[in-house]
Amino acid sequence: RRFFVPRDAAARAVGADKVAAALCDEARRRGIEIQIVRTGSRGLFWLEPMVEVETPDGRIAFGPVRPGDASGLLTAGAGHPLYLGRPEDIPFLKRQTRLTFARSGIVDPLSLADWRTHGGGRGLERARSLGPAKTLEEVTKSGLRGRGGAGFPTGIKWKTVADASADRKYVVCNADEGDSGTFADRMLLEGDPFALIEGMAIAGLAVGASKGFVYIRSEYPDAVRTFERAVLLAEADGLLGGEAGFDIEVRVGAGAYVCGEETALLESIEGKRGQVRAKPPLPAHTGLFGRPTVVNNLVSLATVPWILAEGAEAYSAFGMGRSRGTMPIQLAGNIRHGGLFETAFGVTLGELVDGIGGGTRSGRPVRAVQVGGPLGAYFPRALFDTAFDYEAFAARDGLIGHGGIVVFDETVDMMRQARFAMEFCAIESCGKCTPCRIGSTRGVETIDKIKRGERVAANLELIEDLCQTMKFGSLCALGGFTPYPVMSALRHFPEDFVRRATAVA
Ligand code: NAI
Ligand code: SF4
Repeated sequence: RRFFVPRDAAARAVGADKVAAALCDEARRRGIEIQIVRTGSRGLFWLEPMVEVETPDGRIAFGPVRPGDASGLLTAGAGHPLYLGRPEDIPFLKRQTRLTFARSGIVDPLSLADWRTHGGGRGLERARSLGPAKTLEEVTKSGLRGRGGAGFPTGIKWKTVADASADRKYVVCNADEGDSGTFADRMLLEGDPFALIEGMAIAGLAVGASKGFVYIRSEYPDAVRTFERAVLLAEADGLLGGEAGFDIEVRVGAGAYVCGEETALLESIEGKRGQVRAKPPLPAHTGLFGRPTVVNNLVSLATVPWILAEGAEAYSAFGMGRSRGTMPIQLAGNIRHGGLFETAFGVTLGELVDGIGGGTRSGRPVRAVQVGGPLGAYFPRALFDTAFDYEAFAARDGLIGHGGIVVFDETVDMMRQARFAMEFCAIESCGKCTPCRIGSTRGVETIDKIKRGERVAANLELIEDLCQTMKFGSLCALGGFTPYPVMSALRHFPEDFVRRATAVA
């Protein structure tokens, strides 16, 4: 019998390694021959460690499994208390459209054979047969937009680099996934690293670059380890290296949130302090070591193989408006069913939080959700009809960012959350521009005054003024977007601020 046990960090955090060891020990003790395959995660975190068993009718899942369950699991069937049935039939998975994450949780992430059996490599093969110009055309036609948060059309970015003339060009993958409640980059690095390698090789071919860098945050040691091993395997296989015409190097960050901003990230790869560069020039013109550079989020790059393999039209058939394709949405915070939910754009926030996520884990009513990381807006229940789409969120003064949703129940203090946004900005600011460096600290002080009941009305006005200055005067998104959480907290939950004023009056 073959058992599939995730090696994803989220599954390991709740005991997946111990479960794998217990299965081995128990099988040895009872003289049963088993094989254990360590996969990535399917992304149903409340069921982790989720163990799958190969049967003549396909895989059957059990979870959440504890080491003590190992003995029963060796011969378990439908009667077992942890029996979940076929993983594809679990509603959370069944309702998804998995394109980018199609292999995650299914394959052994470090088996090239497994990757190929499940469709890996077909995208690169087609790109090679199409050539650079037609490959670029496919990516443009697919409507793929930057999954890091800004949603800039990937095809246009690639074309800018392809059209630039230089002795060398680069492809840089941004895997400095710093947004609260996000884990898509990590899950892919740990669950299907060859998808990223393939996507970067396709990007290199399309723009004329022979070297790629993957910048991974240091908080992801498992992802770094898995991806570095995947690069070595790909080199030995000829998928990367001289013959393939494309090399990849891994760079590990040192914990600064601002290094997820593309120009600070480039500075960091160059060995300098992670400080934001003024744009223009765009990295597409003058990027890494002064050369034209494609900087893409990991999810954008890992989606490209599917687009090339299945065709631009197949991809753009999913989605709504200008948001084409699918988005790996990450449900986190106080939520019953937390995990990764890849689906076509257009699903509403309410469906995601109540329908798919099942409401809060605490059982109390949902009061607010923050979408798009620490710089994203807070949405109240009244806005749960907002469709998951770049433009729909922007129209409501929000952003979808990297697809992270953090849920809060009725016990949340929204003034505290607004203060946290300012404090986060003050701590993470790179210090280059005044609105962010000074504004965020003044923001913390002003919210503290409101909290103490000092000149509440005047200080609330001051916060609005400060937010305007930060929004329009900051050099990058860190200072420029901090007003989103602050202003949305103020707009949608004024009672949490005004309560203080009334109390003092
Ligand atoms: P941006 O709008 O300045 O740029 C978007 C991208 O398009 C950049 O790569 C830029 O170089 C490129 N670009 C713009 N015009 C171009 C042109 N004419 N030709 C070629 N390329 C062009 O946004 P930025 O500052 O890069 O990103 C902000 C976003 O980052 C926010 O929306 C936020 O959601 C997100 N973010 C994501 C985080 C994460 O963990 N993934 C963390 C923090 C912020
Ligand atoms: Fe640096 Fe903040 Fe200015 Fe961005 S907004 S460049 S993080 S000081």
